[in-house]
Amino acid sequence: MKIGIIGAGSVGKVLAKGWIDVGHSVKISSRDPHSESLFVWKEQMGSECHTGSFEEAAAFGDVIILAVNWSGIEAVLQKIGQTALHNKVVIDLSNAVEFSETPQLALKGISAGELIQQWLPESRVVKTLNMVGSSSMVHPHYDEGIPAMFLCGNDEEAKQIVEGLLQQIGWKTILDIGDITRSGLLESLMLTCLISEIKQQCFGAAFALLRK
Ligand SMILES: NC(=O)c1ccc[n+]([C@@H]2O[C@H](COP(=O)([O-])OP(=O)(O)OC[C@H]3O[C@@H](n4cnc5c(N)ncnc54)[C@H](OP(=O)(O)O)[C@@H]3O)[C@@H](O)[C@H]2O)c1
Repeated sequence: MKIGIIGAGSVGKVLAKGWIDVGHSVKISSRDPHSESLFVWKEQMGSECHTGSFEEAAAFGDVIILAVNWSGIEAVLQKIGQTALHNKVVIDLSNAVEFSETPQLALKGISAGELIQQWLPESRVVKTLNMVGSSSMVHPHYDEGIPAMFLCGNDEEAKQIVEGLLQQIGWKTILDIGDITRSGLLESLMLTCLISEIKQQCFGAAFALLRK
């Protein structure tokens, strides 16, 4: 599969490597796709790793990963344009967080996932992966086992495609919690995790679902 990654930070790179390692072809993008550091990293990833502008990554991918900071997403999507993402599966893993005394969700009355689906009405947005840190996104092994991953989105086929991609990078228990209106639950889950991590000064947590 061809995967276009919008954003070449820690999340973009870790997911790019994860999917290249299992045979996918990736185009990862940045405001400066010709930077030396990105070039050096791309060379280490091998022939299935390509770099380009945000628009080039969007055109390349059958599946698109939004891995840009929340503050930049709307402008980046405007630059790419809705048409370029028509009918594509768009994975949203963003977290709109405000850091004041304690972290809180920056959006009121709507979630980031819903807003992205509104900005991209012709795309098939799936929210997932936002509630774990980048170091746990690929092959998430903990002493207690493999954590659970949640996803939501309006399009059933898109969710199946995303589930398959998650399985390929090591997720086993993947739970579909409904349409994109459930995105706020996943964003609150991230916040719950973040607040408890800060209180305990212990980072890298993930969720497990225990059954009797
Ligand atoms: N880090 C985590 O553990 C984690 C976990 C869950 C979810 N997330 C979410 O994943 C997304 C990416 O996080 P990250 O940790 O990979 O961030 P990061 O390392 O800071 O990288 C962010 C990427 O976004 C681009 N960017 C930032 N501001 C921009 C703007 N105003 N306009 C255009 N591009 C901009 C940067 O572009 P340049 O390359 O041009 O600098 C970079 O490629 C965020 O939405 C975050 O909430 C992160």
